[in-house]
Order: sequence, then C-alpha cells, then structure tokens
Amino acid sequence: MQAHWNGEGTDLKILELLKEPLVPLDKERLLQRDRDLAKGNLASPSYRYAREFAQADEILIGAPYWDCSFPALLKIWLEQICVNGIAFRYGQDGRPVKCCACQKLIVVTTAGGYLPANNSLERYWEEMCGLFSIPKLRVIKAEGLDIQGNDSQAILQRAIGEIRER
Ligand SMILES: Cc1cc2nc3c(=O)[nH]c(=O)nc-3n(C[C@H](O)[C@H](O)[C@H](O)COP(=O)(O)O)c2cc1C
Repeated sequence: MQAHWNGEGTDLKILELLKEPLVPLDKERLLQRDRDLAKGNLASPSYRYAREFAQADEILIGAPYWDCSFPALLKIWLEQICVNGIAFRYGQDGRPVKCCACQKLIVVTTAGGYLPANNSLERYWEEMCGLFSIPKLRVIKAEGLDIQGNDSQAILQRAIGEIRER
C-alpha cells in the first residue's frame, strides 16, 4: 500500500495486487478467521486488507476482463476483505449491515472485445455493493481494445473521462 497526496486535499492510497502477498483462503485460514471472529480479535495483520477497505470513503478497482470475469488475484483480495465484523456484518434478520465507510465504488474494466448486455460482471459488483451497503456503483468499460482498427488510446481516454465525471 502506498500513500499518495493528490494535491486536492484527498488522501489517496493505491494497492497494486501483483505486489501483495495474497494467498487464497484455505481450511486453516478460515478456521483461524472463525476463531478470531468468535473472540473479537480482528486486529491481526491478516485483516489489514479488510481494515483498509472498511476505512476508504471511495474505492476504485481497475482490472482487465478475463474469461468473462476479472483475474483470480482480484477475487483473492476480495476474499481477504470480506471479513464479517470489519467490512460488513449481518444483522438479526440475516441481512448485511453497513460497517465500511465507502459511499461510492467505481469499477473500471478493460476488455479486448465487448461485454454482452447481460454480462455477469456488472451484476456481480451490484451484489458486492449490496453486501457492503455501498450506495453508489459505477462500472466503466473500456471495451474493444484488442479489435484491429479500434483506436485503443481513444477508448482509454474516454474511460478516463468517465472516471473523472463525478
Ligand atoms: C487470460 C486472458 C483472458 C481474456 N479474456 C477475455 C474475455 O473473456 N473477453 C474479452 O473481451 N477480452 C478478454 N481478454 C482480453 C483482455 O480483456 C484485454 O487484452 C485487456 O483488457 C487489455 O487491458 P490490459 O492492457 O490492461 O491488459 C483476455 C485476455 C487475457 C490475457
């Protein structure tokens, strides 16, 4: 995690997943998480991704579209942040209760081709916003990047313009 000051009074943190020691959840890690949750011990470094996520008031996720989804590394990070009691918790009625500060999630996907209208990616992020009780979601698609004849720079610039729209 690097901390940046973007000059507009905003504390911007960037997490490059490829540089992080991310490992998939397994039985031992899940059992440890259950034991920690039962004891209310959520201060362990294992939950640092969840704590960072819960503290952010706006989150932008950028990832390429791979095999009709996103790369597995991003899913591993999501497994690390979905800690009951830090990023969200369940109420008496079994529904998620907001724990995180985030008011807006922006997901940017690049894609070699074009996402179908009924793509599962946008539904997936809607469902995740439901889990975290994040009120605003924007999915920005830079599509058709690998199609011969397409101006990939113009496609990327258009996506950057969309990100800047508040
Ligand atoms: C492993 C892999 C899987 C891909 N799967 C898809 C796909 O399902 N649909 C699609 O439109 N493009 C697919 N692509 C193309 C990428 O989406 C595209 O090259 C990428 O978004 C370009 O952004 P980048 O330069 O940041 O990698 C795939 C590329 C790779 C390497």
